[in-house]
Amino acid sequence: MGRHSATSGERLDMAANDLPTADGERRPDERRLGWDERHSHGDVEGNGPNPTLMLGTAGLTPGWALELAAGSGTNAVWLATQGWQTTAVDWSPVGLANGRAKAQSADVEVEWLERDLFEWTPPARSYDLVAIVYLHVPPEERAIIYPRAAAAVARGGRLLIVGHDKLNAAEGQGGPADTVRLFTPDEVAAELIAADPRLVVERSEVVRRVPPPGRGPIDNLLILRRP
Ligand SMILES: C[S@@+](CC[C@H](N)C(=O)[O-])C[C@H]1O[C@@H](n2cnc3c(N)ncnc32)[C@H](O)[C@@H]1O
Repeated sequence: MGRHSATSGERLDMAANDLPTADGERRPDERRLGWDERHSHGDVEGNGPNPTLMLGTAGLTPGWALELAAGSGTNAVWLATQGWQTTAVDWSPVGLANGRAKAQSADVEVEWLERDLFEWTPPARSYDLVAIVYLHVPPEERAIIYPRAAAAVARGGRLLIVGHDKLNAAEGQGGPADTVRLFTPDEVAAELIAADPRLVVERSEVVRRVPPPGRGPIDNLLILRRP
């Protein structure tokens, strides 16, 4: 069972929309402001938890869970309703506020942390489940965030990544149009196992929500286990 060691209720010690630059100045971070704007218009996650996350967690025994890039918290709140002791991390205070409201409505406890995943490293070997759903950043940024997520998985725990598959751009629905941000589960598995060969691939698959010839979102599901 993972041991949770993130500090409850911590916030970044800086103005909500400012991030430090290399020379120590603070300036608005346009990408984060963009996410604040999107989250201020409602739920980017749509209705209900992500079906591929539900598929990937089916049958797991709930323990300590960490969702990175949790957005408006729909998945984190759902995990909490399933019995997971859940921490949700995002850099958008607007998304996190939406998540808090959802948790209150669902009458569940979730820990909400405002963090920039390019800066923050989750506590190592601490969670039974680390989930990332639809975080589509360029490969060089993925190389910063994903190995840290894998390192946060406790022995016996799992890293679960759900993405819009590369096929989604041409054959699917929704998701980023910028194909540089899309990935296959096999390529992410290879990247993470190169960084930590102890990880074991449990699932690496494309998940079509609508069978062909119908057209719907094409996700991928990667689950790595730490023995
Ligand atoms: C497409 S949304 C995904 C939200 C949710 N996981 C879902 O299932 O729909 C991507 C989220 O990643 C967050 N994000 C992007 N870059 C981030 C970073 N560097 N640090 C923290 N959160 C980040 C955004 O604020 C946004 O909420």
